[in-house]
Amino acid sequence: MTLYPASAENISLCADLLREGHPLAFPTETVYGLGADALNEAAVARIFEIKARPDFNPLIVHVKNLDMAGTLGVFPSKARLLAESFWPGPLTLVVPRREDCQVSLLASAGLPSLALRVPAHPVARQLLNMFDGPVAAPSANKSGQLSPTEAAHVVQNLPELAVLDGGACRMGLESTIVSCLDGEPVLLRIGSLDRAEIEKILACRLTLLPENDTRTPKLAPGRLARHYAPNASLRLNAQHVEDDEALLAFGPDLPPHGGLCLNLSAAGNVTEAAANLFGHLHRLDATARKIAVMPIPDTALGEAINDRLNRAVAGK
Ligand code: TXA
Ligand code: MG
Repeated sequence: MTLYPASAENISLCADLLREGHPLAFPTETVYGLGADALNEAAVARIFEIKARPDFNPLIVHVKNLDMAGTLGVFPSKARLLAESFWPGPLTLVVPRREDCQVSLLASAGLPSLALRVPAHPVARQLLNMFDGPVAAPSANKSGQLSPTEAAHVVQNLPELAVLDGGACRMGLESTIVSCLDGEPVLLRIGSLDRAEIEKILACRLTLLPENDTRTPKLAPGRLARHYAPNASLRLNAQHVEDDEALLAFGPDLPPHGGLCLNLSAAGNVTEAAANLFGHLHRLDATARKIAVMPIPDTALGEAINDRLNRAVAGK
């Protein structure tokens, strides 16, 4: 464990750590985040590894200001209004991802949208200014445990992690999430920013659409599946490859194949495989109609990879 008190020198050092692809806990006004360079797939895969998440939920991408957010996502007028009203602050906006956006596909679970937020905590702001790039960050705790609001909570829960210590979080509850994809903005998560304040600015009531709610077909057009699902059909645990199949491989020993093949990790490393998962699926999906997927061990991030692949098959 390395605890860095938030001096200017240490913040600069932490920005360097992010640049080198290391994950790092940092304070925001809501809770401590487990941050990594959002442009670096391998660094983002480490976040899921450290949190020991059994699935790949999309992460919030933190940026220094609205200008930088605008280089990553498309801001419809209402999203811009909310950003101008509440950033920096405890509001996360889900907006369409720009076509030229270079943010890790794993960070947004392969979705065509992106969750963006400009935190208000002075230490987070200095870190984001010095790093000068997007930082993907969920709360800095093991999956299923309480969100940390002090550096000591992070140290207790994730003792291996470097922590930038900025004292106790002022709000202690995660940011409010509003989705601005098409049509009216909808509330995805109640959080530190009072929904009444948002409704005042928008001059309308916000519908709450819980993140995992599937019972609201009326709102379905505004509600993208939370994960990327390939158009191609997937055949899992494949030991051989048919003539009309592309191969999503894993490990050094591949079955004979004549067609397109992408390897998630030739070394058989599940963290590397997680970093490549959505990018490889997108690339194979662009040309292949059938994809054979080699078995992936159910250990560590392998469990999240298999969860994702099983859902993609079940969704057909
Ligand atoms: O206060 C906070 O928001 C903290 C601090 C660190 O900023 N972060 C946080 O992140 O709570 P996390 O990863 O625990 O929450 C992200 C939530 C997920 O529940 C996810 O479903 C939603 O944001 N989300 C992220 N990207 C999304 C997307 N493209 N579409 C819909 N929901 C998305
Ligand atoms: Mg969390």
